[in-house]
Amino acid sequence: SDPELVERARAAKAALGDRVFVLGHHYQRDEVIEFADTTGDSFKLAKEAAARPDAPWIVFCGVHFMAESADILTSDDQTVILPDLAAGCSMADMAAIDQVEDCWDDLVEAGIADRVVPVTYMNSSAAIKAFTGRHGGTICTSSNARTALTWALDKAGDGGKVLFLPDQHLGRNTYARDLGGPLEDCVVWDPHKPMGGLTPEQLDAATMILWRGHCSVHGRFSVEAVEAARRDIPGVKVIVHPECRHEVVELADEVGSTEKIIKTIAAAPAGTKWVVGTELNLVRRLGQQFPEQQISFLEKNVCYCSTMNRIDLPHLVWALESLVEGRVVNPIRVDPDVAHHARIALDQMLALPG
Ligand code: 13P
Ligand code: SF4
Repeated sequence: SDPELVERARAAKAALGDRVFVLGHHYQRDEVIEFADTTGDSFKLAKEAAARPDAPWIVFCGVHFMAESADILTSDDQTVILPDLAAGCSMADMAAIDQVEDCWDDLVEAGIADRVVPVTYMNSSAAIKAFTGRHGGTICTSSNARTALTWALDKAGDGGKVLFLPDQHLGRNTYARDLGGPLEDCVVWDPHKPMGGLTPEQLDAATMILWRGHCSVHGRFSVEAVEAARRDIPGVKVIVHPECRHEVVELADEVGSTEKIIKTIAAAPAGTKWVVGTELNLVRRLGQQFPEQQISFLEKNVCYCSTMNRIDLPHLVWALESLVEGRVVNPIRVDPDVAHHARIALDQMLALPG
């Protein structure tokens, strides 16, 4: 990266000292990670955001839903800054609050809403987290989805159901792979169709109502790529993120959040051969960090998360230098009523065991 920008970022961080806390998601560019005070998966970053109550400014190098969650979980005296407001998440955008409210109205009409507990992936807007809080559900991330789903199924009771938003793959993988539930218990709710495109019988028989959302990055990993890796690299271990499609996850040796992927590779003996099915910035960095292992990318196609990549060094420098000059750019402020209900669902996640 540009040495002048690196020097400016260093100088701005030094001038701000402990007043700024920079968080970096594992998918961020190297040039940004270099200036992060802490890095993590979305669960770790949600907890870390609240770990520095004395810092008035939290610069969140990640995507919009993560910065919203940090705003909800930090005090009113703290301001969360997203260096580029265009850093969204295509999956989070697949569930709009009015669609989710319509879905709930349909479930009420079908006479089953009182048996449904919502489980909402962190990758969602604050409004949908608030919906989840209002209806007695919980948030989950890829690192605690199993615990969250177990809690919700238990709460739903016999004949109860979970409405899993917005990632159908994480919902299906957690239910069918982690908990060993039958795939036939899962139905997909299509928000563009009346009653989600489902018959009353299908709805009644289902345990998992999966929202029709997916990650545009992880959706590109294919069964063929796993098979090719197994053919071309004898002894290879395949590790993927649970946002990948079920068929891909079923073929993998290991499945986990970004933090788990890093920890699993870090703990493996030298000489282990990995192919990794997650975002490319992270896979490249793993290759640099663990040169004693053989690490390659699951797909030949370049697979950055384009919105994560919007946070680059120029945007970070702009956000930091603005703070030095006494200006707050790109603050993320969640509406207080939305934040209140979203916090209930986030606190429920934080209270889950483990
Ligand atoms: P992690 O919680 O595993 O970091 O995942 C976040 C994400 O957006 C993956 O696409
Ligand atoms: Fe969203 Fe997928 Fe990017 Fe994660 S990798 S932030 S789920 S688009």
